[in-house]
Amino acid sequence: MTLQPIVAPSILSADFARLGEEVRAVDRAGADWIHVDVMDGRFVPNLTIGPNVVAAIRPHTKKPLDCHLMIVEPERHFEAFAAAGASVISVHPEVSPHLHRQLMRIKELGCLAGAAINPSTPVDAVREVAADLDLLLVMTVNPGYGGQRFIPASVDKVRRSRRLLDETGSRAVLEVDGGITRDTIEAVWRAGADTFVAGNAVFTADDPGAEIRALRARCAERA
Ligand code: DX5
Ligand code: ZN
Repeated sequence: MTLQPIVAPSILSADFARLGEEVRAVDRAGADWIHVDVMDGRFVPNLTIGPNVVAAIRPHTKKPLDCHLMIVEPERHFEAFAAAGASVISVHPEVSPHLHRQLMRIKELGCLAGAAINPSTPVDAVREVAADLDLLLVMTVNPGYGGQRFIPASVDKVRRSRRLLDETGSRAVLEVDGGITRDTIEAVWRAGADTFVAGNAVFTADDPGAEIRALRARCAERA
């Protein structure tokens, strides 16, 4: 488990017309990773960005690009995302019957491999591959849009996810995504999450740096 919380602003809430600048701004503001939400209009209702956009933002930061693929048949695009400069590639087991093969392929391409589970997906969906994961992403809203409200039952799910990683000897980071704010981050941190996606909270803040620091400060102590 990482001792320092990792804050990963999601560019879904950035101004897409000024994406390079926005990425540089959150980098300067102290973001640890940049979270990239890839949506296909099929697995999730919304359509967002693809590998070309990842390649376009890559020169604007040295920070890891955390690519969250909310798409069907994600394996068709692994190479393109890796070539574009993705650091982490996460897929959803709900649309990945061959999850183990996909994780291996992502690693082969030189990226960290993650699995992301929806609120209605049991933690056990990733039990058999837990030791192979570099990252487990627990969705704390239903994926599709930024700015949604955190689902309170997620706190217990994060606790059970933490337990699964510990039980299986997995060294995966435990990331939460959706509705993370100054008010919700502390509970999931205490439950064992170490990596926090924050879209709206960071990008709508007057001072994104102060917001990132405030989020991190909420994780100061773990009981
Ligand atoms: C939701 C995305 C999230 C989202 C987070 O489908 O996976 O990354 O953009 O945004 P906020 O922090 O605004 O909920
Ligand atoms: Zn995401």
